[in-house]
Amino acid sequence: MTQQVPLQKALISWFRANQRDLPWRHSYAPYEVWISEIMLQQTQMDRVVLYFKRWMDIFPDIQSLVSTHEDQVLKCWEGLGYYSRARNILKSARVLLEQYGAEIPSSRKELLQLPGIGPYTAGAIASIGYNRDVAVVDANVVRIFARIFNIDLIPDSPEAKALNWETAKKLLPEGQAREFNQGLMELGALICRPRNPHCSSCPLAPYCLALKYDLITERPVPKKSSKIIPIEMATGVLINNGKLFIQQRLPDDVWGSLWEFPGGRIEMGEDPEEAVLREFFEETEFRVDVASKITTTTHHYTRYKVTLHCFLVTLAQKNPDPVLHAARNFHWIPFSALDNFAFPAGHRKLINHMQNSGFVLEQPSGKPD
Ligand code: ADE
Repeated sequence: MTQQVPLQKALISWFRANQRDLPWRHSYAPYEVWISEIMLQQTQMDRVVLYFKRWMDIFPDIQSLVSTHEDQVLKCWEGLGYYSRARNILKSARVLLEQYGAEIPSSRKELLQLPGIGPYTAGAIASIGYNRDVAVVDANVVRIFARIFNIDLIPDSPEAKALNWETAKKLLPEGQAREFNQGLMELGALICRPRNPHCSSCPLAPYCLALKYDLITERPVPKKSSKIIPIEMATGVLINNGKLFIQQRLPDDVWGSLWEFPGGRIEMGEDPEEAVLREFFEETEFRVDVASKITTTTHHYTRYKVTLHCFLVTLAQKNPDPVLHAARNFHWIPFSALDNFAFPAGHRKLINHMQNSGFVLEQPSGKPD
């Protein structure tokens, strides 16, 4: 009988021959690995590569980040979603400068102390950035292990989590964590994909129990599908004296510190127009009138589908000052300045619509100026 190549060797050889050319793989600078891994936490590779290159042009190192206002960091992140990631990068950069002389630590324990860095990301930075013998488990690794070892457990269960981390540590070949860990993730992205995996070209096919027992579609054990929840929202673009009103959200919610037009969820029994008037008053104490409908945008999140009804509104009072109840800051800005601020996706779609449809932002007649 011929001797089988060890699994680790088969995977690393495959990775060397088949890895994608990704910008942070040129030097494996820990700063670049850190930023790429944070971006990859919730975002597809193609988009990450575009955002990563732009990020490195603007913020090539930790010093350049630390001297930047949070608004600029969020602007660079605009469109990637999950904005706490960007805020945590900035918080971490400050810690790195103060405590580590602008270096990124290589130990898992120290990395875990930084905001936004959990067990997966700490393992990825230590192993990919420094080639230290630290394991990683992400969704790719979970899927590969479930198939190779025919794991009959719900992946989110505590038993499955413990088993996966234990397996990742046990398999890790000494001194080769950079290639082995990336090999697993690359295999998950290119071959051992969630649907229609390419088992015929898989370097780990000889080891794969799910393949042997024809259980590939059953592994990992499928989750119960969670329903997408529809949410209806309304927002108003307030124009006064040729300027638009925008407000900056409070720091610590989903879209913390991003800019927006006031608005919110439509309540039961309410029209979108009524919701805009109510939300405007609750958030700013401005009394407004709806002048016209601008558009309706939809945006899909992991668990929600948000429909945003967008209106042009005008002040029903003469030049009042806002009293902010849902924001930390506000500006009156010309239409041409909208691109200088970071907005959540639904509001950015509204802005794109206004910019691309030749929408004329003139004060509707017959209203107070
Ligand atoms: N997904 C997350 N991190 C990755 C990496 N370093 N290589 C490939 N896919 C990834």
